[in-house]
Amino acid sequence: MRKPLIAGNWKLNLLQADAEALARQVKAACDTDAVEVIVCPTYTALAAVRQALEGSRIGLVAQDLYWEASGAFTGEVSAPMLVDAGCRYVIVGHSERRQHFGETDETVQRKAKAALAAGLTPILCVGEVLAQRDANQTVGVVGAQLEGAFGGWTGADAQRVVIAYEPVWAIGTGRNATPEQAQEVHAFIRQWLAKRFGAPVGEAVRIQYGGSVNAGNAASLLQQPDVDGALVGGASLKADAFATIVKAAVDAKAAMR
Ligand code: 13P
Repeated sequence: MRKPLIAGNWKLNLLQADAEALARQVKAACDTDAVEVIVCPTYTALAAVRQALEGSRIGLVAQDLYWEASGAFTGEVSAPMLVDAGCRYVIVGHSERRQHFGETDETVQRKAKAALAAGLTPILCVGEVLAQRDANQTVGVVGAQLEGAFGGWTGADAQRVVIAYEPVWAIGTGRNATPEQAQEVHAFIRQWLAKRFGAPVGEAVRIQYGGSVNAGNAASLLQQPDVDGALVGGASLKADAFATIVKAAVDAKAAMR
């Protein structure tokens, strides 16, 4: 059975002291073995949050990385540096990076491979924009993103990845996909993985849903058979809302047994 993964993507928010305070609240409210809980602060808050989370099972995650390990690449942060900072996972190809910072399927692939090589688990983000959904292109767009990200991969590597399906029209808009819409795309992603890498890989890879997940809608999304967790933005900045989402994942998993 896939262990649900609940991630708080704090995006470009929180100075060190605030990040540390939130991490302490998350540690107090969300430290469980039933599901995996991780938080993604900005680079500058990684050390403070690492310290705050010490002694808990909650994992530290970075929001991006560069694919070279070191060298003359001013401003970049590499996978070995993130491991050194205490990270277990790294988000790759978030739609905000694709939209504002020129991220492409090719850079996503390079970053994901660099993460794996350093022992980090990439959380690979895919998702369509509104015009594509309205034109019934969702599956084609997500399929092309997977094709671009996973070109030349082995099944053994693919199995180590987490995929986050984040419909761009649902991010930060308060408009989430219905549980049925999410399930449909998650099932497609799993089938795509099974077809490309074999059924065991399709069964093993965790697929998170992201896009306006909150305390009110988390349960119905997490009850879907192919939704293995959530990548939460806005609601993860409030410890009580985030704890409610974690609890919904614990309950959904118990109900599936
Ligand atoms: P919101 O939950 O704020 O919509 O953000 C989702 C997201 O982009 C998580 O990575």
